[in-house]
Amino acid sequence: MQNLRYEHHGSLALITINRPDKLNALNRQTLLEIEEAVATAMADAAVHAVILTGSGDKAFAAGADVAEFAHYTATEARDLSAVGHRIMDSIATAPKPVLAAINGFALGGGLELAMACHLRIAAPTARLGQPEVNLGLIPGYGGTQRLVEWVGRARALEMLMSGDPIDAATALQWGLVNRISATAESLLEDSTALLNRILQRGPIAVSHCIRLTALAAQGDPDGYLQEIETFGSLFQQPESREGIGAFLEKRKAAFRGSASGS
Ligand code: COA
Repeated sequence: MQNLRYEHHGSLALITINRPDKLNALNRQTLLEIEEAVATAMADAAVHAVILTGSGDKAFAAGADVAEFAHYTATEARDLSAVGHRIMDSIATAPKPVLAAINGFALGGGLELAMACHLRIAAPTARLGQPEVNLGLIPGYGGTQRLVEWVGRARALEMLMSGDPIDAATALQWGLVNRISATAESLLEDSTALLNRILQRGPIAVSHCIRLTALAAQGDPDGYLQEIETFGSLFQQPESREGIGAFLEKRKAAFRGSASGS
């Protein structure tokens, strides 16, 4: 990988966008590498969840690479947008939890990438925004849709039309991030702690939580029916037998072979 670092931290894969001199701007190559890295993590049975972050202390990702698309034709721009959508969708619908650890600027495509993740934790210094209108553009990787999903249309329109970034505290208040880390330095530790709690739960159930909430976000009328079907199907899984049995026996469930934590 040219622009990413991919590391194993126990059962977590840590994917770090690594173009710090360009504030981790997402050129096409980087986007494709993110797609490949996430697919690798999903296919690897030893990886149970993913953290996506940016290298350096300044940026998660400062957007699509403006220099790269500066001279694009309409067709090339449409193609780039479609590729971006494909990659963001692959993250949003990934079966294992993906968390964005936002260590600085998450702007444009960087915020769209963070919004495609299932969870977001921001460093206190993070700034999040969709500045595309400054370029006479709109977000092209799902931002007009996912921002409405996470913050509601009123706040989404303010961010999209003004192009102004918001700070971490506002992002938390608006629901754009789940948490703010205690310090910039503790971002990865705090992200790992949240994921480790989730990894102690039933992994198949967690996976269905991702899938079913995505249906709700898409306004899919089938979501309620799918919940009924899924709830039923889980009773055929050893996972629910272990979870229910552990509760009744007053012990911790061992969904992945051994019980640990709370
Ligand atoms: N695309 C391409 N290059 C980018 C970039 C982007 N989205 N964001 C930053 N960079 C590059 C800069 O061009 C600069 O490269 P250089 O040193 O070769 O000139 C380098 O990253 C550092 O950025 P710089 O602007 O000098 O840092 P700063 O601290 O002064 O400003 C930002 C930080 C984030 C406010 C500013 O970089 C910015 O506005 N970036 C563009 C954000 C944007 O519009 N994103 C949406 C794109 S659709």
